[in-house]
Amino acid sequence: MSAKKGLHLTLKIWRQKNTKTKGQFETYKISDVSTDSSFLEMLDILNENLINDGKEPIAFDHDCREGICGMCSLYINGRAHGPDTGITTCQLHMRMFKDGETIVIEPWRSAAFPVIKDLMVDRSAFDRVMAAGGFISVNTSGNTLDANAIPVPKEDADKAMDAAACIGCGACVATCKNGSAMLFVGAKVSQYALLPQGRVEATRRVLNMVKAMDDEGFGNCSNTGACEVECPKGISLENIARMNREYMAAYADRG
Ligand code: SF4
Ligand code: FES
Repeated sequence: MSAKKGLHLTLKIWRQKNTKTKGQFETYKISDVSTDSSFLEMLDILNENLINDGKEPIAFDHDCREGICGMCSLYINGRAHGPDTGITTCQLHMRMFKDGETIVIEPWRSAAFPVIKDLMVDRSAFDRVMAAGGFISVNTSGNTLDANAIPVPKEDADKAMDAAACIGCGACVATCKNGSAMLFVGAKVSQYALLPQGRVEATRRVLNMVKAMDDEGFGNCSNTGACEVECPKGISLENIARMNREYMAAYADRG
């Protein structure tokens, strides 16, 4: 059996000490990368090599490595989450790259997501937008109702589930020329607005979440659709339209 030949790659990686310092690209070579390994495993190997050479490893975010947590926020060769669609960086495989290729790796670029170090950005702006209204405040502990006690049309339940698939990764913001978070906020507003349990606070929710989004410095949507293309969870622009309708109705009703 012949040994599999791995990839020999040149990596141009953004290095930045902290939020206050200026960053720059640094070039690294890596050899014999298995095409079966994931992109993050490739970075793990690079970091092991750097540590063995007495150099500082590259800081990057990750947690689940299963496409669930939304942490692995890398901009690869000019695309959020790299050269594949419908996946996060942790689901990206090295078979998507060619032997001898140069790969450019950057952090998310958005004023609302400041760089913490190297490839890690601070996405706590999303947490603050969620804290402004991305929840229902009814107490659901104890006396749990049967799931069918409140009838929900199948089409609404499906749309709410589709919106709830958003993992808060921030690829929509990173890929938008305006740094808009409207796909994310639209998904979160829709997830609740489509269900009876979420309607109770819908007016307050959309007003507060849109205000928080603006306060965090995210830009506005200009309907280029780039966010939808790069979203790993297939969140539809339809959710932005629904958020806008919810917002207009809530604004008119605000009293
Ligand atoms: S809408 Fe898509 S791209 Fe934006 S945060 Fe949610 S999952 Fe990520
Ligand atoms: S590490 Fe959790 S989605 Fe990639």
